[in-house]
Amino acid sequence: MTVSESIADAFGGRPVWLVGATGTLGQAMARLLSQRGAILALSGRRAAELEQLAAGLPGRAIAVPVDLLDEASVNDAARSIKHRLGAAGSLVVSVSISAFGEFLELPEASFAAAMDTKYLGALRAMRAVLPDMIAQRYGRIVTLSGGSGSRPRPVHLPGGAANAALELLSRGAAMRYARDGIRVNVVAPGPIASPRMQAIVAASDAAGQGDGDRPAGQPLDVAEAVCYLLSERSNFVNGTVLKVDGGTH
Ligand SMILES: NC(=O)c1ccc[n+]([C@@H]2O[C@H](COP(=O)([O-])OP(=O)(O)OC[C@H]3O[C@@H](n4cnc5c(N)ncnc54)[C@H](OP(=O)(O)O)[C@@H]3O)[C@@H](O)[C@H]2O)c1
Repeated sequence: MTVSESIADAFGGRPVWLVGATGTLGQAMARLLSQRGAILALSGRRAAELEQLAAGLPGRAIAVPVDLLDEASVNDAARSIKHRLGAAGSLVVSVSISAFGEFLELPEASFAAAMDTKYLGALRAMRAVLPDMIAQRYGRIVTLSGGSGSRPRPVHLPGGAANAALELLSRGAAMRYARDGIRVNVVAPGPIASPRMQAIVAASDAAGQGDGDRPAGQPLDVAEAVCYLLSERSNFVNGTVLKVDGGTH
């Protein structure tokens, strides 16, 4: 196989839908996936940032704004991708909201919002692409959780609980659809150099719950794990939670 053939065949030759592409980790994923030959549909709520990101990538990429809180918006985005690029063969959901603070001080709405964005948002995106994946007998789904889904961080309980729920949902979907040629895996980053991690560390320190300096990974470390799980190199890896945390959890 020549290099150009292998790039054309990358990710099954099917579009990769990356939700959360405007985030720190999402941008690193977009760049790496594009370098590895992916045809990308980039999503998040910020249309101008998506357009700018798409324009700077080496491969084909389109901007598809979406709000994961809105089922109709998610289904519209999946339809738009199918119309413009063909049905998504891969889906990556890398979204978060910031709700950090003391357990008794955080409003209940923070817990609900984390679940709505991260858990139900991923559920909505998965349900929007699964019928075509089942029909094509090809699907690769990667969701992003985080170390706080298995090791509680007291200032990060809304997001941590959503991470735990998301991991269970992803593993369950992996079991359900394995026979349909679909793999669903989770990447659970530990601390990664990013504004998000700075915010979590600041909230932990303010609450007297800092855990000292821990080595932080780079966004590219996470992007490599996502790329691997979408590729054929992970052909028999399904329903796993891959920690990318440098052993700090
Ligand atoms: N950074 C870390 O150290 C770290 C550690 C552990 C786990 N993680 C996890 O890794 C993932 C990515 O982290 P990150 O640092 O890249 O986060 P980030 O920079 O805060 O990016 C968050 C992304 O979520 C998108 N988003 C939020 N609400 C949305 C909605 N309703 N609809 C569509 N998109 C929405 C944002 O896009 P728009 O603003 O354009 O809508 C943005 O692209 C998250 O799941 C996070 O919990 C990160």
